Amino acid sequence: MSKVTQIAHPLILHKLTFIRDKETGAKDFRELVEEVSMLMAYEATRDLQLREIEIETPICKTKSKVLAGKKMAIVPILRAGLGMVDGMLKLIPAAKVGHIGLYRDEETLQPVEYFCKLPQDIADREVIVVDPMLATGGSAVDAITLLKQKGARYIRLMCLISSPEGIKHVMENHPDVDIYVGAIDEKLNENGYIVPGLGDAGDRLFGTK
Ligand code: PRP
Ligand code: URA
Repeated sequence: MSKVTQIAHPLILHKLTFIRDKETGAKDFRELVEEVSMLMAYEATRDLQLREIEIETPICKTKSKVLAGKKMAIVPILRAGLGMVDGMLKLIPAAKVGHIGLYRDEETLQPVEYFCKLPQDIADREVIVVDPMLATGGSAVDAITLLKQKGARYIRLMCLISSPEGIKHVMENHPDVDIYVGAIDEKLNENGYIVPGLGDAGDRLFGTK
């Protein structure tokens, strides 16, 4: 069963308020999404494995910990997931980045795939799928299905804002995938937008519409 973690850190909640505010323009929106992604990456990697190595400080020899587990991959769902990549790479600079292009058909709300390019050793990597919005969950479910078809085995999902419906949809379809979110909002509206949410994440990031 998926573990759902809401990362309700004061800095994240503060920044999410300004991300949600419709008066926040594209420049500040982009910077805030990057900052929140970096803060969330800290929590979403809390269980990474460590091993001890021996080093010598200027004072003496000592044993100290370094990351030991699987290498990592960050996989943004295009377009809006792109806004989260730089923040995550600040914390995990050695991660490789794959891309999955999906957009929601505005009539059916069903995700349509248009691009997929992943690191060739994706099967051996710890994958973090990133997308600011988990609304119906259709895009996340399809992206994770595609990743599994391409061999990925260790997958977690990180979203800034989610709906109860989206979380349920991912949990039902991918119970092996842990989910990290900054907020769980009230509901979806009749157009499949998260309420209160932040509007259209891609448009706000890239200034389209
Ligand atoms: C948004 C968002 C998610 C998806 C969430 O992308 O970035 O990928 O909607 O909705 P869902 O959970 O109901 O699938 P959108 O389809 O607007 O594409 P864009 O990022 O290219 O704007
Ligand atoms: N996609 C968005 O960008 N925002 C929503 O609220 C729902 C889907």
